[in-house]
Amino acid sequence: MGTAKTASYDELRMRFPTVDTMRDYARTHAPHFAFEYADGGAGCDAGTTRNRTALDAIELLPRYGALAEAGSTEISLFDQRYAAPIAISPMGTPGIVLPGADRFLAQAAQAARVPYTLGMIGGATVEEMAALAPDVLWFQMLRCSLSDHKIAFDLMRRADACGVRALVLTMDVPVYTTRPRATLAGLGGSRFSPNARMMWDIATSPAWFAALLANGIPRFANLKKYMPPSASINDVIAFTQREIGGAFSWEEVARYRDFWKRPLVIKGILHPQDAEKAVALGADGIIVSNHGGRQVDALPASIDCLPDIVKAVAGRTTVFLDSGIRSGSDIVRALALGANATFAGKAFLWSLSALGAEGPAHAIRILQEETRATLAQLGATSVADAQHVMTRHIPRSWAALR
Ligand SMILES: Cc1cc2nc3c(=O)[nH]c(=O)nc-3n(C[C@H](O)[C@H](O)[C@H](O)COP(=O)(O)O)c2cc1C
Repeated sequence: MGTAKTASYDELRMRFPTVDTMRDYARTHAPHFAFEYADGGAGCDAGTTRNRTALDAIELLPRYGALAEAGSTEISLFDQRYAAPIAISPMGTPGIVLPGADRFLAQAAQAARVPYTLGMIGGATVEEMAALAPDVLWFQMLRCSLSDHKIAFDLMRRADACGVRALVLTMDVPVYTTRPRATLAGLGGSRFSPNARMMWDIATSPAWFAALLANGIPRFANLKKYMPPSASINDVIAFTQREIGGAFSWEEVARYRDFWKRPLVIKGILHPQDAEKAVALGADGIIVSNHGGRQVDALPASIDCLPDIVKAVAGRTTVFLDSGIRSGSDIVRALALGANATFAGKAFLWSLSALGAEGPAHAIRILQEETRATLAQLGATSVADAQHVMTRHIPRSWAALR
C-alpha cells in the first residue's frame, strides 16, 4: 500500500489491471476488519453475490465496420460535463478502510472529473470536501428527523452554501441491519470497542497505522456541529444510530425537495412505482440500487430491476445504477439497459486498501479505460450510443407479477 513516488498508470496497471485484482490484494493485505467492513454484505452475502451473478449474465452484441476510433466516455449530468459515466457512491466512514479516505476519494474525483458523493456520516465535512472537489462534489443524506428535521435542513443549507452539485437522499435505510462479517470483525456494535484481533491488525498494518497517525480517527465530521463539545466517540455513535436513518416518507422527501433548489437524486429505488413517485415529486435523478447488498440479502439485483424502471420513468428523470459495478463491461451493461450513468462503492474501497491514497485515481482510470474499450468493441461511439447495443440475458421482469 502507498508508494513514495507517484507511480504511472502503466506501472500500476501491471500490478493491478482490474478492480478485482485490487480486491484480491485487499483480502490478503488489508487489516482484516477493514476488508470485512468494506466487503461484507447483509445476511449470508447472497445480495452481493446476486448483484455479480446478474451483471455477469448480461451479454452485449458487438457491431463492427462503422467505428473509426474509440469514442468518448464523456457525459452530461444536470448541465455539467463529466469525464465518464461513473460516480463514487456515498459511503459512511470509509476511513475505517483507510484513515483519510474521504479526502483521497475527493481529490481523485476532482482530478478525473467524475462525481464524488460525500456521505453525511462520512469522515470529512461538506465544507472541507467542497474546497478539495469544487467541481464534482455531491452530498448524500439519510433521513434525520430530529427536531422536525432541523439538522437535515441545516445540512442542506451548508451543502448549498458551498456549491454542492447534487443532493442524494437515501430511501433504502428504513432500519439498520446486521452485516455479520463486519460484526464478527469487531465493528457494527453500539459502542466502539476494538477487539484483540482488531488491535493486532492495526499493529501489524504499518500503512493503515501511518494513515491513522496522519489523518486521525475516522469520525462523523458533519455531525460534530450538532453534538456537545464533550461528546465521546461512543456518544456520537449512539446519536447517529438513534437519530440518523429510519424510514423516509414521501411527504418528508417532498419537504426536502421543496427546500433544496439544486438537482436532487433519490437513492435506493427498486420498484417502478417508487421510481414514478420520485419523478412525480420532482426528483432530477434516481439511483436504482440495493445498497450493494448491504441492507437485506433477499433484495433483487439492482441491474435486474433497471429495465422496468427505465420503462416506467420513460426519460423523465436521470437514471443511475449501482450495486456490483466492478468493470467497464458492467458500466456498459447498465448503459445498454437504459441507465444514464453508474455509481460504485466497494471498488473504490478496495483501491484504497491496495494502493493507499493513489488507489481511487487508479480505480477511476481503470473503469474509464475499460468503458472506452468496451464501447469501441461494441461499435458504440459515445455513452449515449450504448443504449442501442443489443443485450441478451434471462428476462427477470417483475412486471409480470403485478
Ligand atoms: C462501506 C460502505 C458504506 C456505505 N455507506 C452508505 C451510506 O452511508 N449511505 C448510502 O446511501 N449508501 C452507503 N453505502 C452504499 C453505497 O452508496 C452503494 O449503494 C453501494 O456501495 C453500491 O454497491 P457496490 O459497493 O457493489 O458498488 C455504503 C457502501 C459501503 C461499501
